[in-house]
Amino acid sequence: MSDVPDFSKSSLMLNNGMDIPAIGMGTCGVWRPNDVYDMVDNALKAGYRLFDTSTTHHNEQALGHALKELLPKYNLNRDDIYITTKLDIRIPDNIVMSEHVKNSFEISLQNLCTDYIDLYLIQSPGVVATHKHSSNNVSLRSDAWRNMEKLYDEGRVNAIGVSNYSVKHMREFIANHTSIIPMVNQVEWSPSYHPTNLIRFCESHYIVMQAHTSLGGASYGNMGLLRNTVVNNIARHHSATPAQVLLAWSVQQNIGIIPQATYPQFMVENIELKFRLTSKEIEIMSNFEERMCSTDFETIR
Ligand SMILES: NC(=O)c1ccc[n+]([C@@H]2O[C@H](COP(=O)([O-])OP(=O)(O)OC[C@H]3O[C@@H](n4cnc5c(N)ncnc54)[C@H](OP(=O)(O)O)[C@@H]3O)[C@@H](O)[C@H]2O)c1
Repeated sequence: MSDVPDFSKSSLMLNNGMDIPAIGMGTCGVWRPNDVYDMVDNALKAGYRLFDTSTTHHNEQALGHALKELLPKYNLNRDDIYITTKLDIRIPDNIVMSEHVKNSFEISLQNLCTDYIDLYLIQSPGVVATHKHSSNNVSLRSDAWRNMEKLYDEGRVNAIGVSNYSVKHMREFIANHTSIIPMVNQVEWSPSYHPTNLIRFCESHYIVMQAHTSLGGASYGNMGLLRNTVVNNIARHHSATPAQVLLAWSVQQNIGIIPQATYPQFMVENIELKFRLTSKEIEIMSNFEERMCSTDFETIR
């Protein structure tokens, strides 16, 4: 059908005018070099051009090496792919943020065998396990951002953004920073968890939303959404799979997705979204009962 969009090549425009692929490959939980190599090989073959990692995934180095070796196999250069990595701002009190950002960034570049990052995100608004009510979190993220702005101004990153920021964190952000506002907010987002006030806020500030946990928590064994009867019925109607329906629900609302998969068939499935949900189907899924965010970022001060 000619009017069915090919989301595999779609992109979203950031507020700095640059594009980000709408669909990317999440890499969390895959860290053994051989596994990372196979994942990258299968992902490039399936058409993925965005790879999402983080210092906290412990796979930057394996990912960098795999990309360096495999890009020529697919006649691709560094500029043909998009790398997102993240800064962990959970640092001991005796470390100065400017040094931390500089050092973390240089280590990420070295690990990823590159001299620039496409998208650099603050991993989370603060410390979840301890000190989540500490007022230090506010200054930690503010200092981190100012140092990320420097990297952006120096042309060492093409875009900067945040992750797991709630409306409260975004509002505070806009109040404290006037020069560059985040280009992306990467957050948990699925029919089971999709705070409307957050998407409205991001839309109104031209901040692209990118979803993680878009399969409803399959990565930690929560198969509820993938097994949901309504999702399965909609999938049958479109000759699609439940995972494709969940992913299309985000992409059709202009939300980027980075599903993680190691099984090659899942990779192909997740990028080949060659059908379109009706607005009624989107609405039905948007009205599923919501649960709490699986990571308690919202309560971080
Ligand atoms: N910013 C943050 O704080 C944050 C937090 C979480 C995740 N992330 C990012 O988001 C990415 C996505 O991770 P996630 O935790 O959100 O997991 P997810 O993508 O929601 O789920 C991944 C799990 O779903 C399975 N799966 C993938 N495709 C499937 C399909 N078509 N049908 C059935 N099962 C399928 C995978 O299985 P197999 O592995 O067996 O193929 C894996 O077990 C991460 O890799 C990471 O890059 C970021």
